Amino acid sequence: MINHPTGDGVKPLSHIAFIMDGNGRWAKKRGMPREYGHTIGAGTFRKIAEYCFRQNIGTVTVYAFSTENWKRPKQEVDSIMRILDSYIKLGMAEMAKDNVRIRFLGDKSPLSDSLRREMLELEEKSAANKYALNIAVNYGGRAELVNAVNRLVSSGEKELNEDMISSALYTAGQPDPDLIVRTGGEMRLSNFLTWQSVYSELYFTDVLWPDLTERDIDLAAENYYNRQRRFGGV
Ligand code: IPE
Ligand code: IPE
Ligand code: MG
Repeated sequence: MINHPTGDGVKPLSHIAFIMDGNGRWAKKRGMPREYGHTIGAGTFRKIAEYCFRQNIGTVTVYAFSTENWKRPKQEVDSIMRILDSYIKLGMAEMAKDNVRIRFLGDKSPLSDSLRREMLELEEKSAANKYALNIAVNYGGRAELVNAVNRLVSSGEKELNEDMISSALYTAGQPDPDLIVRTGGEMRLSNFLTWQSVYSELYFTDVLWPDLTERDIDLAAENYYNRQRRFGGV
């Protein structure tokens, strides 16, 4: 359970973002193909997202596939897309019935027609729901910024400000992540939420994504609440 402290100067943990890393290594350790790690990781994703919502964290964002992940062998890319497809039809469709608003962050255009259609349907169907779940697919922070700037420029804007850029991102209207958790031991952001992460607290754990538990979320939240967020002040 997460104990959300209240009081002056405490910024509640209202948006948590995950870099779901370590699926491949998790499978390899078991002598299994990397794809198996992605399948089990998809189950972890649902368990963790639902736990966060139950613990009153209103927004959860997960990094599922980056603009750089296309470099992987076609077989692995195909299998990630298949897992995503079946997860949209089953797990996410159930979550959408459970008051979860699902949005996909990233450029959908290179995805298959059927996957794109399912994503749009799920976004529309769940649009009035309370809890926000963002799934970053074919997402890159730099591509997101370039795309936002191009859109503003082509709509005739000559001089941009921060609010205009924020409103042209995939996350328009949503709060920035308070905490970014990366599993799998690497200490980098790998092109995740470049604009939105400037004041996020970062938490790195060696736990591989498929092994992540509710207890690990409690620990990350406790760690978050023990930090002082100064946002440049004193
Ligand atoms: C993260 O796990 C999932 C995706 C990038 C799709 P990895 O597949 O990167 O797993 P490792 O880092 O190789 O163990
Ligand atoms: C980051 O993991 C992307 C996702 C979790 C979707 P990667 O495994 O692709 O990142 P790098 O290659 O270690 O930076
Ligand atoms: Mg990785």
